[in-house]
Amino acid sequence: MKVAIYPGSFDPVTLGHIDIVERAASIFGKVFVAVIKHPEKQANFSFEDRMKMLKNATKHLKNVIVESFSGLLIDYAKKKKASAIVRGLRAVSDFEYEFQMALTNRKMCPQIETIFFMTDYKYAYLSSSIVRQIAELGGSIAGMVPPNVENELKKRRK
Ligand code: PNS
Repeated sequence: MKVAIYPGSFDPVTLGHIDIVERAASIFGKVFVAVIKHPEKQANFSFEDRMKMLKNATKHLKNVIVESFSGLLIDYAKKKKASAIVRGLRAVSDFEYEFQMALTNRKMCPQIETIFFMTDYKYAYLSSSIVRQIAELGGSIAGMVPPNVENELKKRRK
């Protein structure tokens, strides 16, 4: 069974992320969604909240497991016996960072391939930071995040 890792900070998870998880889950036997515990940029949501929102939003996918990791992603991927790391690509602006990360991981472990999923056009504009900004300023984030995340952000505003 082919195993993939879909890593990220998920701060918070968006429908763009869920679209990628669903598509990865239809190709791989098992997908570990790996939430980084201590992201490089300080996360806005606590680690526990990011995990909870993701678990809730992926519970319909039986071959998806939400876990956490710290340290090097490639070490976590090796531990899980993954054959691939999955990342989503939106605009050209994503490319440089993703290119560097994929090549670095490949240098450290050539057996694990990084596979990119092109975003669905519906989510091409979407990012966790855009969602946070809209929610903080009182706008609607319906259709941008899973319903449980929308409710969570509404509760926070109150
Ligand atoms: O959602 P993000 O913030 O774009 O995810 C970035 C993430 C977590 C995938 C990346 O920062 C990462 O893999 N961090 C772990 C540290 C690591 O392995 N660094 C070396 C590869 S560049």
